[in-house]
Amino acid sequence: MRPVHRVFVTGATGFVGRAVVQALRGEGYVVRCLVRRGSEPDLRGVGAIERVEGDVLAPQLLDEGMAGCGAVIHLVGIIREHIATNTTFYRVHVQGTVNVVAAAAAAGVRRYVHMSALGAREGARSRYHQTKWAAEEAVRACALPWTIFRPSVIYGRGDGLVSPLVRLVRRLPVVPLVGSGRLQPVPVEQVAQAVARALGLPAAVKQTYEVGGPDVVTLGELVDLIGTALGRRRILKLHVPGAVARVATRTLQALPYFPLTPDQLLMLDEDNVCDPASLPAAFGLEPLPLATGLRRLLG
Ligand SMILES: NC(=O)c1ccc[n+]([C@@H]2O[C@H](COP(=O)([O-])OP(=O)(O)OC[C@H]3O[C@@H](n4cnc5c(N)ncnc54)[C@H](OP(=O)(O)O)[C@@H]3O)[C@@H](O)[C@H]2O)c1
Repeated sequence: MRPVHRVFVTGATGFVGRAVVQALRGEGYVVRCLVRRGSEPDLRGVGAIERVEGDVLAPQLLDEGMAGCGAVIHLVGIIREHIATNTTFYRVHVQGTVNVVAAAAAAGVRRYVHMSALGAREGARSRYHQTKWAAEEAVRACALPWTIFRPSVIYGRGDGLVSPLVRLVRRLPVVPLVGSGRLQPVPVEQVAQAVARALGLPAAVKQTYEVGGPDVVTLGELVDLIGTALGRRRILKLHVPGAVARVATRTLQALPYFPLTPDQLLMLDEDNVCDPASLPAAFGLEPLPLATGLRRLLG
């Protein structure tokens, strides 16, 4: 197979996307990013890249944007729906993936890498996981040489879980906690490295990789590790009862700064863990203990 030279990336302006762009450039690929109008500033500082304006819900722009690319990395995803703008999990995750896969096939790409999420499965409780699963099914049904990644929580600068928890630890005398599930946070740089390396790894074709770091923690344990990384001796925590959290979330979710949705609450009640050895073994990565990763991030 001809080696891939130019890679088309969706979701490049996001938290994971920016790291993936860096990793791809580090591996010597030319990177072309799909960028929605208004999101261009989010790519400041990522270095020399090609940009095409578009949206995964606008198939024609995808067809034009992918011309000349040998591979596609599809990272787009949302954690919160915006009903007023018809931004639903189904449209973004499932229809968006169907559009991207169709455009990739029409462009004759030789590799397709898909970002799903740990917990995506048939009959999942949350609509996030249900639609991530339906998107995976669309990928598995296509003729492209695909690879699927299913990460647990990904952490790093600007992430959606550790960074908000750090703010709570810094600002509040008592940190409220919800959910009883366990997580397996993995550093964004390692996820990005694996995604970039998958393009040149024939053994990764038609493989689904569950992705988690070496430590399994509850939210409370994660807060304690954050406290330690910040040099705090003891963090006071309050576990909000499930029923209270559900009522509060249903009532307040529409507020722009309220951090949780009912769907996220469902997910936080589930274990989100996997075999930590599979990713390092497949992609030659050294597992990074969570305490070390947090110290590097917050030190
Ligand atoms: N972060 C995690 O802990 C985690 C864990 C497991 C799986 N994942 C998956 O990893 C992927 C990336 O997550 P992330 O944390 O980087 O999310 P993020 O920071 O919210 O980034 C989402 C990206 O998707 C883009 N996007 C959203 N709707 C789009 C559309 N209709 N057309 C084109 N682009 C669109 C956003 O563009 P704009 O900048 O224009 O908004 C942004 O680039 C997602 O699929 C997510 O489900 C993340």
